[in-house]
Amino acid sequence: MKFCGALSGMMGLEFLPPVRALAGPAASLRPAELVAEALASKPLLPIIWLHLQGCGGCTEALSRSKSPGLADLVLDKIALNYHETLMAAAGSRAAEAMRAVMENEKGKYVLIVEGSPSSGAGGAFCAIGGRSGADILREAASGAAAIIAAGSCAAFGGLPKADPNPTAALGVGGILLDGPVVNISGCPAIPEVTAGTIVHYLVTGELPKTDGLKRPLAFYGHAVHDHCPRRPFYDAGKFAMAFDDAGARAGHCLYKLGCKGPTTYNACSLVKWGEGLSSPVQSGHPCLGCSEPGFWDWEGFYRCQSAPLEGPAAAVSGGAPGAGFVPEAGPASEFLGGRG
Ligand code: SF4
Ligand code: F3S
Repeated sequence: MKFCGALSGMMGLEFLPPVRALAGPAASLRPAELVAEALASKPLLPIIWLHLQGCGGCTEALSRSKSPGLADLVLDKIALNYHETLMAAAGSRAAEAMRAVMENEKGKYVLIVEGSPSSGAGGAFCAIGGRSGADILREAASGAAAIIAAGSCAAFGGLPKADPNPTAALGVGGILLDGPVVNISGCPAIPEVTAGTIVHYLVTGELPKTDGLKRPLAFYGHAVHDHCPRRPFYDAGKFAMAFDDAGARAGHCLYKLGCKGPTTYNACSLVKWGEGLSSPVQSGHPCLGCSEPGFWDWEGFYRCQSAPLEGPAAAVSGGAPGAGFVPEAGPASEFLGGRG
């Protein structure tokens, strides 16, 4: 109920027609109850979870999510028919499980992709069962009702795509040029955002509205900076200049230590991590920009952006991704506002 309440607040689920349709007999329900009611009325959602080039961190993060816990989602709301990391079956038994979903649930299942496909060496990289990850992705996507690229590797190529990109890695959108793809960027993806996107599809039968990088607006509509607990110090011009100086100990803004929060769009400052306990910036580390395309190849995690400091709110708040970020000369500029 707590999760449904949070989703109602962030995604406005209770206002969407499929959920409102329940409002007849359930008109007296509160928004969270309405969403929970809609969720309870849906059949199990079949899911194929492909794991391509990535570290497994997005699965790790989701399996530690408590709201709802992955176990709750798997047991109650989704049928995780194929997930290479979590399933007990291996080899041909696992391949059969995936084929069974593709044949029996054609047009109904959701494909979640973790990790990036490779377009290099004729499919030799990331080959599974003798087939390239890109081929498997194309085939699995052809019968999917919706496709969720979970994490920055799947969304934009992530670490495998970082220079010199030896496997010619791409984001899912680089292989599937059309199709119902939504990107849940982040390294890893915030588990509540992945789970929230699945729940949105479950109760409405549609993917949520997205920004220009195909990320759900409900979660990626604001910069990390917009709701950062250190924001009052940014506005007051108070910055930590070293990780152990008096400013850092007083909670001052980490902008001059390389924080990319002003140009990074994700819900870290609102949803947070560890059941809402904290976020990278809150716990004392600059935002690395992990939810934006090409962040591994920016000019340095601890190098200050060159956006002008005067009028900070005007420079960044509510702007499009990339607004307010004035890149210094160098290769990082090619990633700004673009797709990795
Ligand atoms: Fe927070 Fe970083 Fe913005 Fe400073 S620059 S207010 S630490 S997000
Ligand atoms: Fe990533 Fe920055 Fe959030 S590094 S986890 S987008 S605070």
